[in-house]
Amino acid sequence: MRPIEIVTPRQLVLGSGSIVRWAELAAREGWKRIAVLSVTPVWPLLEEALAEGERQGLDIRKIDYTLPGEPTTDYFEQLRAQAAALQPDAILGVGGGSVLDIAKLLAALTDQAGHVSAFFGKGLVPSRRIGLVCAPTTAGTGSEVSPNAILLDSADGEKKGIISPFLLPDCTLIDPALTLGLPPRITAETGMDALCHCLEAYINKFAHPLVDTAALRGIELVGKYLLRACRNGADREAREALATASMLGGLCLGPVNTCGIHALSYGLAGKYHLSHGLANALLAAEVMRFNRPACLERYAAIARALDLPVSGDAGHDADLAIDYVAALSASCGIPQHLAEVGIRAEDIPEMAAMAMNVTRLLRNNPREIQLQDVIEIYQNIY
Ligand SMILES: [Fe+2]
Repeated sequence: MRPIEIVTPRQLVLGSGSIVRWAELAAREGWKRIAVLSVTPVWPLLEEALAEGERQGLDIRKIDYTLPGEPTTDYFEQLRAQAAALQPDAILGVGGGSVLDIAKLLAALTDQAGHVSAFFGKGLVPSRRIGLVCAPTTAGTGSEVSPNAILLDSADGEKKGIISPFLLPDCTLIDPALTLGLPPRITAETGMDALCHCLEAYINKFAHPLVDTAALRGIELVGKYLLRACRNGADREAREALATASMLGGLCLGPVNTCGIHALSYGLAGKYHLSHGLANALLAAEVMRFNRPACLERYAAIARALDLPVSGDAGHDADLAIDYVAALSASCGIPQHLAEVGIRAEDIPEMAAMAMNVTRLLRNNPREIQLQDVIEIYQNIY
């Protein structure tokens, strides 16, 4: 068995209503001044939790995250200047994947010298002295438990990753109640992202039995509950299942990570700034089809996890899994073609070239992907 290293937040709290516990955790750590990063629709959900912080004597300062779309290096540097002026003991990030990624980087880099782009890559963050608490308000990115943060490089428009154990929160609070008001579109796109994390860890060239367990359970939960949560956002059981699936998917990101779907999604999102989940959802079934020859047995296991009517014939069962992923995405209301989201056919070669740069994920793919393959995958879903 290949040795793997799983790094997780020091403390993980999962359960409805758990957000209010951030204050006692902060007090226990001895933090006094807390910079809270969140977005307009989420602040009202935090009233009680922030009031509890004030009762505990914490000095709470708000940083408003207002950027639409994917976070950029330029925007990060603006927020970093705001955070530096506050001199916080800790950062509390409450929001979707973009907010959490920024919160993680603020905690790690606010008191470091050097532009954020100097830290792109793996293991280049030297330390973290500012405390970090993360609470997701979407279910899918897995950022709350991963050592990764992704930014759009304002210099060249490409999405790049910063990976470091110092980006793991001291504490992650997963409160599914924070996701009850999410609109169906965001529920669907982030849910598909969670599915892709699990799926791509499971079929990964570097898959690992321990991570497989988390991945298969995550796939099962998304399969069972995503459509329910899209149809009825207030379905607590579905929201709790998806929050759990997101966490399981996030746990796959550190030790194994994703592969072809995510690599190709960076081509789309880099050029067109589609949401990360939408880009993955558009690609999921088609990249699965491309990988099919290398993944028959693994796809068949996914079909069993999804409780599909398997026959025992790996080819047949693999097709069930691929068709199910395509149907799930469509029934959640996600567009299925690049043309539907405004992508121009003439940009396919440029997007394919961008995807080919994501070598850190392409090398994980169970089947080798060449430039021409990427072009054909994009064309097939055009
Ligand atoms: Fe993702």
